[in-house]
Amino acid sequence: MNLIDAAYARAEANGFGLSCEPPVGRLLATLAAALPPGGRVLELGTGAGVGTAWLVSGLLPRADATLLSVELDPATSALAAEAGWPDFVELRVGDALEFLAAAEGGYDLIFADCAGGKVEGLEHTLARLNPRGTIVVDDMREADDWPDDFRARQQGVRRTLLEHPDLVSVELDHGSGVIIGVRRPPAG
Ligand SMILES: C[S@@+](CC[C@H](N)C(=O)[O-])C[C@H]1O[C@@H](n2cnc3c(N)ncnc32)[C@H](O)[C@@H]1O
Repeated sequence: MNLIDAAYARAEANGFGLSCEPPVGRLLATLAAALPPGGRVLELGTGAGVGTAWLVSGLLPRADATLLSVELDPATSALAAEAGWPDFVELRVGDALEFLAAAEGGYDLIFADCAGGKVEGLEHTLARLNPRGTIVVDDMREADDWPDDFRARQQGVRRTLLEHPDLVSVELDHGSGVIIGVRRPPAG
């Protein structure tokens, strides 16, 4: 079984229901395939490793890129670690916001997929985005049953990404609803 099918199977077998949908995963793979030499990928919220698997599928067979995925829950991270990841993948247990506070260097592709670093502290995530780097968030399509406070928080994420002066961004009615932002390079 390939990494992606295995990740969905692992998620289902363990009752993990928060994995990204295949259209979002395919988008992640496509963006990963376009990364420059030595590209650095960051995923906030590993879950069962479905998003990670899609990102890896876009990177392979190259081995010059790196992918770091941060997950708060040790048991969930251990579940993701059951996969046979290539050497360029690192799964780390920790809080995304704490990671961002201590992080060094920039990333060329960031999948911000947990509240920490997406809903809370999105500016800290954007601070780690390289010029021409891409940030992706999903689950942005509004649903009638969203609680008011969650709706307000999602709207905050949308506003930040779509109105940020340093980003060129688009919201796509794709999968669960996606916003993609690319950091503008410096002038000149
Ligand atoms: C939407 S799921 C991630 C799904 C995964 N990215 C995928 O595409 O399959 C969100 C994950 O983030 C984790 N999480 C929640 N808060 C977090 C935080 N502050 N830092 C890191 N991970 C967090 C949750 O435990 C959960 O596994």
